[in-house]
Amino acid sequence: MIPLIELRGASYRYPDGSHGLRDCHLALRPGSRNALLGANGAGKTTLMQHLNGLLQPETGVLRWKGETVVHNRAGLRALRQQVGLVFQNPDRQLFSAHVEEDVSFGPLNLGLPETEVRNRVAQALRAVGLQDHARAPVHHLSFGQKKRVCLAGVLAMRPQLLVLDEPMAGLDLPMQQDLQRLLDALVAEGVTVLVSTHDPDFAADWADEIHVMAQGRCQLSQPVAALLTQPSAWQAVGQTPPQVMALHAELVRQGLLAAVPVPRSIERLLAVLRARTLPASQESVIHDA
Ligand SMILES: Nc1ncnc2c1ncn2[C@@H]1O[C@H](COP(=O)(O)OP(=O)(O)OP(=O)(O)O)[C@@H](O)[C@H]1O
Ligand SMILES: [Mg+2]
Repeated sequence: MIPLIELRGASYRYPDGSHGLRDCHLALRPGSRNALLGANGAGKTTLMQHLNGLLQPETGVLRWKGETVVHNRAGLRALRQQVGLVFQNPDRQLFSAHVEEDVSFGPLNLGLPETEVRNRVAQALRAVGLQDHARAPVHHLSFGQKKRVCLAGVLAMRPQLLVLDEPMAGLDLPMQQDLQRLLDALVAEGVTVLVSTHDPDFAADWADEIHVMAQGRCQLSQPVAALLTQPSAWQAVGQTPPQVMALHAELVRQGLLAAVPVPRSIERLLAVLRARTLPASQESVIHDA
């Protein structure tokens, strides 16, 4: 299958000579959920900024649906209509005085009719739960609300690929859960999503594929199901495996659960445990624990 987007052999240095990417490969399947892990400075933000053409690789190539992206005005305009990037820091993305104005910037720029722009803005603000803040000054919003405005601005463009740079960072738990539900709804509509995160538990629970970067390289791309059975694969790329893996391994060792499948989260593991019909003696062991 042709990837929706593919970066091959991409290298990039910042003007001061720092390496952002080194011979980096990444391919995303259409309609998939992807989590991007990596230590601070691994190159996640740099990689994401290549996916919508904000940065151009010095060597290597970016392909959209198998076609090489040309980094000229027309090529970048076409790419940015399909690839929406939500920045790590909302203050770098927002530049209008009011929420509505900011969210409508992209659709207006596409040259859409005014009623269509208004509909898209209203729908995007509803999607992120900010419909009552349409006329609020951006600088009156909290950090989490600003992040949601950025997301609304990108949603209003109706991209096929949504790239979110650490969207959960700085959000409270209910907001994180809302965001996860919103991402699920977008994936159900066929949108492909790439999320960078420092949380392997979230990655394992939510993603179809996990990609891990280190020192500017994408060092691992694998389906979550495969990674859940391989703690050494996580350790080999400097990542701590999700907590559910150690807990599941211990329950297998104690003869309480089968070795496969490995549940994707502790909540799912608990559901498996609760669903079991246990002999009375073992039931007391689990309840006492
Ligand atoms: N504007 C810049 N100028 C010079 N070097 C930069 C710049 N931005 C990033 N770098 C360097 O590029 C490398 C990759 O940085 P990047 O921001 O992509 O990492 P990251 O994985 O997103 O990290 P974090 O988890 O902290 O967000 C780092 O070595 C960083 O110092
Ligand atoms: Mg970053």
